[in-house]
Amino acid sequence: MPIVEREPPKGRRESYVLPKVPVPPLKQTLDMYLTSIKHLVKEEQYQKTKSIVEKFGEPGGTGELLQEKLLEKSINTHNWVYDYWLDDMYLNQRLALPVNSNPAMVFPKQDFRDHKDSLKFAAHLITGVLEYKKHIDTRALPVDFSRGQLAGTPLCMKQYYRLFNTYRLPGLKRDTLVIHETGSTEQEHIIVACKNQFFVMDLVVKEKTLKEMDILSQLEKMVKMAENTEERQPPFGLLTSDGRTEWAQTRDVLIKDSVNRESLAVIEKCLCVVCLDDPSGMEVGDTSRALLMLHGGGHEKMGANRWYDKPMQFVVGEDGVCGTVCEHSPFEGIVLVACTEYLMKFMTGSPSKIGRATSVSELPAPRRLLWKTTPHIQGLLKASAERLQRLVRDLDMDVHKFEVYGKEFIKKQKMSPDAYIQVSLQLAFYRCNGRLVSTYESASIRRFHEGRVDNIRSATPETLAFVKAMTDEKTSLSDSEKIKRLWDAINAQTNSTIAAITGMGIDNHLLGLREISQEIHMEMPEIFTDETYVASNQFILSTSQVPTTVEMFCCYGPVVPNGYGCCYNPQADHLLFSVTSFHGSTETSSAVFIKALDEGLVEMRDLCKTSNKPQSNKIRCRRSHSPSVLCGSLDRA
Ligand code: COA
Repeated sequence: MPIVEREPPKGRRESYVLPKVPVPPLKQTLDMYLTSIKHLVKEEQYQKTKSIVEKFGEPGGTGELLQEKLLEKSINTHNWVYDYWLDDMYLNQRLALPVNSNPAMVFPKQDFRDHKDSLKFAAHLITGVLEYKKHIDTRALPVDFSRGQLAGTPLCMKQYYRLFNTYRLPGLKRDTLVIHETGSTEQEHIIVACKNQFFVMDLVVKEKTLKEMDILSQLEKMVKMAENTEERQPPFGLLTSDGRTEWAQTRDVLIKDSVNRESLAVIEKCLCVVCLDDPSGMEVGDTSRALLMLHGGGHEKMGANRWYDKPMQFVVGEDGVCGTVCEHSPFEGIVLVACTEYLMKFMTGSPSKIGRATSVSELPAPRRLLWKTTPHIQGLLKASAERLQRLVRDLDMDVHKFEVYGKEFIKKQKMSPDAYIQVSLQLAFYRCNGRLVSTYESASIRRFHEGRVDNIRSATPETLAFVKAMTDEKTSLSDSEKIKRLWDAINAQTNSTIAAITGMGIDNHLLGLREISQEIHMEMPEIFTDETYVASNQFILSTSQVPTTVEMFCCYGPVVPNGYGCCYNPQADHLLFSVTSFHGSTETSSAVFIKALDEGLVEMRDLCKTSNKPQSNKIRCRRSHSPSVLCGSLDRA
């Protein structure tokens, strides 16, 4: 049954109905699963997996039973995969949030004349946040519509309503995503971090919302207070940078004291955190700015001037390094982009309203949050600082602007830019490692009610054939064979994309089958303990397109120790890549990967130029705006 998402906002009277996320046919998913792994594992292992999968899928077998349960669940819930996915992707994960989970949006470098200038920027930014939040509270945000593949479908807006009213609470085994009621009065404050101190800025004083000049005045007072070394509190923000279980254990210790309990409660209910950073002392380039967003440079730099659990955390550095660090569980990068682009446009488009006269005398002094420490807590802080430092030392990051061409060139070839870039990433990986690996590309399923993402498995057999043609078989194959293989790879990738965005991806489905088997207390089916399934969920290449229309870029870390995180931002005339890996792995190097990517992109362009007559895209999936009728069976060209 379709669900009415919400009343359309005033002025947009069109009805707004989103279908539920479908449960794909069992056989389709199992067939696609086998196809997705056949070329990535040894023949012997494949044969073993094949027989396990066939047994799982046989008539009257475990697969059919679980599928039936999943179909029942899909009838009885708004979104059968939402909680499974949220737990699996985020809440059950135990790794530290910085680098491993929290993405960052890096704003253009600002040229502040002096410290006051950076505070004015922060005050203007906070004013923009309050304006944006008004749109959220009054449900006045325009509905998003899909672009690119299958353009024109309305998208679920739920994620926007979780930007400012959520908090990821650490748990010993599983975190909790706390959601406060939107517009709740308890939430009318933000937290300002400065020199590792946390201050409360009440946004409503004597029933009046602070004006920008008042916000600036409060920020100035906070900066002064932070400079007072006698009153300085220990850097408790560090604790949120730790592993989730470690932080949960520490939090249990902290809340035994009422002072700590109160400080935590205030932070956990704030709208957002604004981090006023000191100059980092690092040379300011794209890569260093991205690093400062992801981990703050560790405890010696800005790593403790953060509260990583809070989904929206704005950074304003005195040296012009600015951006947003996000706790990812409530929303996707695309929603973050929409919000931050609004803010950037607000900052440049509407002049700062700071006049000469201020009303500061009526404002109460800002409140510094206090912490009670013990030698035990001091020890925990030290341990968190050391673990963050290890993460900082380990992260190998390279932000690269590929300027030879951009998505317009790719479109001229009649190819999907996203598919083309994905193929180029596979080529780069093959060049570096001589094999392809399980790859994750996030695919939005926001065309469904409360849809988040599924996975596009980009390491397709067709792409393997292409990357071999460009490397091992380079001299033995003709250009026409190479271009044919490129088209096969692009078509396979585009088909996988369409399958994923229309709810026919295999990863969410397999996850659902696995989780429902545990809900009904079944012994874990062999298909999910099989080494192929386990390995195919270790995404050595974790990729995501996060396009922007204003100058900024997104970045995130790898999801496995021997992997790469690759976030890309295709622009008309250039492509921006943020590549991350860990120095601790001997199998990876971000610089080497970027070099291979650069070379491959140039070779792919040269190859396209040899064929001046592009072949038609052979996607046979019907292009309709109704996702529910799409891709029941895909013709994998
Ligand atoms: N010939 C010419 N142009 C083509 C084409 C073709 N064969 N195929 C696509 N194009 C055009 C599209 O019309 C579109 O044009 P536009 O720039 O004018 O809008 C453009 O190329 C981009 O399309 P494409 O590259 O195919 O990608 P997409 O926009 O459909 O995006 C995904 C594909 C998978 C990235 C997208 O569906 C998605 O899911 N995005 C969300 C990812 C996400 O969640 N990221 C954040 C994770 S935290």
